[in-house]
Amino acid sequence: MRRIVYISTSSGLPAEEVDRLVESAQRNNAEREITGFLLYNGRNFLQLIEGPKAALMSLMATLARDPRHSGMLTLIDEPIEERSCPTWSMHRMHLPFDVALRRANIDAEIPAFISPEARQLVQNFAYLN
Ligand SMILES: Cc1cc2nc3c(=O)[nH]c(=O)nc-3n(C[C@H](O)[C@H](O)[C@H](O)COP(=O)(O)O)c2cc1C
Repeated sequence: MRRIVYISTSSGLPAEEVDRLVESAQRNNAEREITGFLLYNGRNFLQLIEGPKAALMSLMATLARDPRHSGMLTLIDEPIEERSCPTWSMHRMHLPFDVALRRANIDAEIPAFISPEARQLVQNFAYLN
């Protein structure tokens, strides 16, 4: 299995549209044994996806063609023994406006079994203003 973390720039998606996107991602991912989470700060996405390599490569190709975002930049692409969030087919991590609250929320939500590098990336992204 592999883990990929990428960031991208939104084409200006309203928050409600992201909820709809996540609902369809959950349905698709469950069928393809893909798990992960998504953060959206109103401008950029950070997504972590985990699963069989072929399934991830196919999803990455689909994502690259999706006009709702652009400029995908892969930050992590690593082999893994175990999933960090096996129960999340796709979980949206919400970023509260208040930065202190955001830190607390994100620190509480980040899965315990994630590589230190991935944890740092998620935290850095979440704490951006
Ligand atoms: C930031 C972002 C993240 C996405 N994540 C997923 C995902 O995890 N799984 C997925 O199937 N589609 C995801 N999509 C949507 C795909 O690009 C594509 O629209 C979808 O897979 C097509 O399937 P559908 O016809 O069932 O909607 C994402 C799109 C964006 C913009």
